[in-house]
Amino acid sequence: MDEVPRRLYRPVWLPLHRRRTVRDRQRPPSVSFAEACDQALNADDTFTVIATALEAATRQQQGWGRPAQLPAAKRNFVGSQGEMNRLVKVLHGDEHSRAVPVVVVNGPPGVGKTALVVQAAQRAVSDGYFADGRLFVNLLGPGRGAAAEPFGVLGYLLRALGAPAECTPADLDQRAATFRSALHGRELLLVLDNAADTQQILPLLPGSPGCTVVVTSRSRLPGLISLAGAVTLALPELSRREAALLIRSVIGDVRADADADADADADTAAVASPANAVVISRWRWSWLPSTS
Ligand SMILES: Nc1ncnc2c1ncn2[C@@H]1O[C@H](COP(=O)(O)OP(=O)(O)O)[C@@H](O)[C@H]1O
Ligand SMILES: [Mg+2]
Repeated sequence: MDEVPRRLYRPVWLPLHRRRTVRDRQRPPSVSFAEACDQALNADDTFTVIATALEAATRQQQGWGRPAQLPAAKRNFVGSQGEMNRLVKVLHGDEHSRAVPVVVVNGPPGVGKTALVVQAAQRAVSDGYFADGRLFVNLLGPGRGAAAEPFGVLGYLLRALGAPAECTPADLDQRAATFRSALHGRELLLVLDNAADTQQILPLLPGSPGCTVVVTSRSRLPGLISLAGAVTLALPELSRREAALLIRSVIGDVRADADADADADADTAAVASPANAVVISRWRWSWLPSTS
């Protein structure tokens, strides 16, 4: 990058002291500076790629971690193919957009929101996405206890990123800003599971376009649509066929074939939720013979 900053003094605005620190190699060029260079020189993302790699290397030197907090995907995952494809598409991102993609998967308890998100996220990770980290936090949405406070959640997320204690301010806005700084230039997935409302989410949103946010909630969180341009994905209950498939995949073919009531169970499960189908499967598994 030796000659580059000098050539860019005019087309790219940069404060004098910052030019000197870049030129004298005291600090690597920032990602936003590199983006401006790419734009000014029509260089696609040549400089952005270099600056992002430099920034990641610096952070690693300073002990910032690469969290991998996603739970394991379900072995018996079935159905929801349409929703899965839509979600995977969001996770693959739109490289021309500078916005942070936010998707809200909503539906009643037990319908499979968390299972779907984890499945899609694990798939994206094995396709090479979100190499800089995956954060997963349960926001303890509507339930018996109190929902998680954004202040505490930000502390948890900063610790998960390996931020030193002195980088965790005692003020909510500053914490949120520190979190955004920590995510800058990263390609990172943030899963906010079981959210209570929009106010809980807003301070947790990253600002850098490499990041993607997936929220699960019983609510559609309409505030997030207007304030963060969120896309919503309503998760329907499993169809009768999918519920039967789920029961079969848990209890196995031999047990399912021996089970005259499996179809009736699938009806009940479809009306209720995959959570019901799982419970029914476990119960059947415990008493049905495994050989005929
Ligand atoms: N499509 C699916 N295939 C298989 N199991 C599923 C599916 N959806 C949900 N489950 C199972 O049903 C239970 C409830 O799902 P979960 O994702 O926790 O629901 P929610 O997050 O909507 O409350 C879990 O045990 C989960 O593994
Ligand atoms: Mg859930």
